[in-house]
Amino acid sequence: MGRVFVAGSINMDVVATADRHPRVGETVAGRQVLYFPGGKGANQAVAASRLGARTTLIGRLGKDSFGGELKAFLGGQGIDLGYVKDTAEAHTGTAIITVAEADNTIVVIPGANGLVGADDVEVVPLLAGDVAVSQFEIPLLTIAAFFRRARAAGATTVLNPAPAQAMSRELLALVDILVLNETELGFLAGSGLSENDEATRIIAVARQLQAREDQTICVTLGKRGVLALAGREDIAVPGRVVRALDTTGAGDCFVGALAAQLADDVPLRTALAFANAAASISVQRMGAGPSMPTAAEVAAVLPR
Ligand code: RIB
Ligand code: NA
Repeated sequence: MGRVFVAGSINMDVVATADRHPRVGETVAGRQVLYFPGGKGANQAVAASRLGARTTLIGRLGKDSFGGELKAFLGGQGIDLGYVKDTAEAHTGTAIITVAEADNTIVVIPGANGLVGADDVEVVPLLAGDVAVSQFEIPLLTIAAFFRRARAAGATTVLNPAPAQAMSRELLALVDILVLNETELGFLAGSGLSENDEATRIIAVARQLQAREDQTICVTLGKRGVLALAGREDIAVPGRVVRALDTTGAGDCFVGALAAQLADDVPLRTALAFANAAASISVQRMGAGPSMPTAAEVAAVLPR
């Protein structure tokens, strides 16, 4: 069984809950302020580790109280933190989140995450059969260095290009499995996709973006499930009907779960259904990191 290496962001999520979102210029009364471990990289690592993968996180924290709390939480999840460095030059990454009616808005201040560099990822002991995962909350040049190293070692690279930003063809070509939502796909492919586009249209846009013939593109569609273009074949995983409480980190749960399954050599179709079920559990719980399910919880909702 391979290992999962996640190079990515670690944030403290400062969450305000309210009955509805304020409009620009408006103030609304909130219900609670909550502090949850978050950051896309950390969330993906928590999901992979809780789901049974040997998981290493590569990242940076500030030398402050959030940094200490996050390290304690992540260490408690069984994640190897040997490649998480403390830095005096910046504060711990922080996300200011509003959750209302199960939907969120997020402002992320990268802080230490912006300092994760090529030197941080080039020392990582990746081997053939491992899975290297990243997202867009650390510098893109660092991700490219990480993926170059991973591919040279024979590991599989998984990129979640979120939050969306323009990326080079060179970085895209280093990706074995791209996991993104419809909006991110529309942005990266330069063709507007709207919420309820048909599967055939989504697959056609994914095909436009595909950088290599053997590249897999997984499009997460929330309650409508997942569509994937795997080389020339396409796969559809139906959505799961659940009552969402907080969708923050659901995409990260999907990515971490998929990485854990791939490290365990599970075939793509089965891995996608598993990751989709894992994400459907995470949305029923508050917070990002703490909402990630265990393998037993996922098995309990999957048909045998
Ligand atoms: O994907 C959810 C995450 O995005 C949150 O945990 C927040 O930290 C932001 O990075
Ligand atoms: Na959640």
